[in-house]
This record gives sequence, C-alpha cells and structure tokens, in this order.
Amino acid sequence: MTDDFPLRDRVSMVTGAASGIGAACARLLAARGAPVLVTDLDEEGAAEVAAEITAAGGRARARRLDVTDPGAMEKAVSEATDLGGELRIAVNSAGINGPLKPLGAYPVTDFDNVIGVNLHGVFHALRHQLPAMVAAGGGAIVNLASIAAHSGFRDHGAYAAAKQGVLALTRTAAREYGGSGIRVLSVSPGLVDTPLVAALPPGATDGLLDAVPLRRPAQPEEVARLIGFLVSDDAAYLTGGDHVIDGGYLAK
Ligand SMILES: NC(=O)c1ccc[n+]([C@@H]2O[C@H](COP(=O)([O-])OP(=O)(O)OC[C@H]3O[C@@H](n4cnc5c(N)ncnc54)[C@H](O)[C@@H]3O)[C@@H](O)[C@H]2O)c1
Repeated sequence: MTDDFPLRDRVSMVTGAASGIGAACARLLAARGAPVLVTDLDEEGAAEVAAEITAAGGRARARRLDVTDPGAMEKAVSEATDLGGELRIAVNSAGINGPLKPLGAYPVTDFDNVIGVNLHGVFHALRHQLPAMVAAGGGAIVNLASIAAHSGFRDHGAYAAAKQGVLALTRTAAREYGGSGIRVLSVSPGLVDTPLVAALPPGATDGLLDAVPLRRPAQPEEVARLIGFLVSDDAAYLTGGDHVIDGGYLAK
C-alpha cells in the first residue's frame, strides 16, 4: 500500500516559492503532507501560493524573504518551527537570470547581483538550514543548479558561474553533514516553462529546443516531482549528487 502523505508533518521551507519551480515544489510538498514556509522576495506572490495550498487542504505560511539578506534568512529559518516542528526539508529555488551579455561586456554590478542571489543566496540558506536540521536530527536539502553549470552558457557567464558554485556548495555540505543524517542534493534543469524563461529577450532561446531530444521545455511540475522524490525516504541513499532534468540536452 502506498502512503498518500509520505512527507507528513515534515516542516519544509522553499525559497523563490512565489513562482515557477519554487511554487510547484511548495504545492507538491504540501500535497504530500508537509507544512511549508513559502518564501520569496515577492511577498504578494508568496501569499497567493500559500493561500492556494491552504485552500486545497494543505498547511502553509507565506513570508517575504530576500535570500541575499543573511539576517532575514536566519529569521526565516527559525520561524519555520512555527509550522509545528523542526525544519526537515528545504528547497532553495530563488534565482535570477541577469542580463544577456558576453563576458567582455558583462556589467560588473550585474555580475555581483547574479552571484549575490544565485550563489550567496544558497550559501546563506545552507548556513542556517544545516544547523536547524542538525537540531532536528536530520533532513534533506535540494538546491537549484542548471545545465548552465555543466555546459557553460553563452551570454550567461555570471549565471553559469553561480550555478557551478551551487554544485560545489552542495557536494561540500553533503560531505560535512552526511554524518548528521542530512542529505544535500542539487537539481540541474534544462529549459523549464516558467516566468524566468518568459522574461528572456525575444530570440534568447531560439535554437535551444532543437538541441533538446524531447523537443519541448519541462513543466515546473515535472521538476518538482523529481525534487519531491529526492527529499523523500525513497531517496535515502542519495546525497551530494546533481540530478539533471533536461529532456536529454546534455546527452552525448
Ligand atoms: N526556468 C528554467 O528554465 C530554469 C533552468 C535551470 C535552472 N533554473 C533555476 O531554477 C530556479 C527557479 O527558477 P524559475 O524558472 O522557477 O524562476 P522564476 O522566475 O519563475 O522564480 C524565481 C523566484 O525567485 C524569486 N527571487 C528572485 N530574487 C530573489 C531574492 N533575492 N530573494 C528571494 N527570492 C527571489 C523571484 O521573485 C521568483 O518568484 C532558479 O534558481 C533558476 O536559476 C531555472
């Protein structure tokens, strides 16, 4: 017999949860029984996702959180316990694209911004989520990386560098905290049909789908289902690895 609520009562937090992959993860974790702290820079969007979860019978609370603010991250992680227990699951999905420019023309302030959100943001999250999960006696964390970390990505130098850094933070955290019962993993999506991609300038993804054997972008729910598996007990022996979900883009 399968358990309809395999994540029952496992307090969870999702960053970047107002939109796209983060929102899909928040909905899926809640549907599987986890109480979810829905965090985002976009407070209204986070509130909408939390309200939707509550209306569907799940447990959720929304909170504004800028992942570049270490103090706010500390507060958010400690507030997760208000959902009824210690933090057991985290999905770090907040991310930005930055401008599309070759490295020779990449503005320094934009480089710093992209690294600030996409890499430092994950560091700030891990810095507080890991000790919280040690206190909980274990847990699972998934960080959003990207195929850009694997292949490099034209005009996305800061983004690719940040995502490669996310892989390194993930492996390091897995080595440091495996003995405390904490699994840390990353997921590298290819093209996913979210507002992040919709906001790219016209033509930015031209030709990309031709290089995807499945010839379509992923839906955010497909990425969320992979993440739902990774944080579940079915993935109890997985840690430190990156899990590519790209419709075959990186296949050689
Ligand atoms: N969509 C794709 O094709 C794709 C591919 C590979 C990797 N990713 C990664 O997946 C993650 C989610 O992307 P998405 O496509 O769902 O994007 P999205 O734009 O739909 O959602 C990202 C969310 O992050 C939030 N955010 C941005 N800056 C923030 C900050 N400083 N603090 C807190 N929240 C902040 C935004 O408000 C937004 O709600 C990102 O890390 C992205 O790099 C996406």
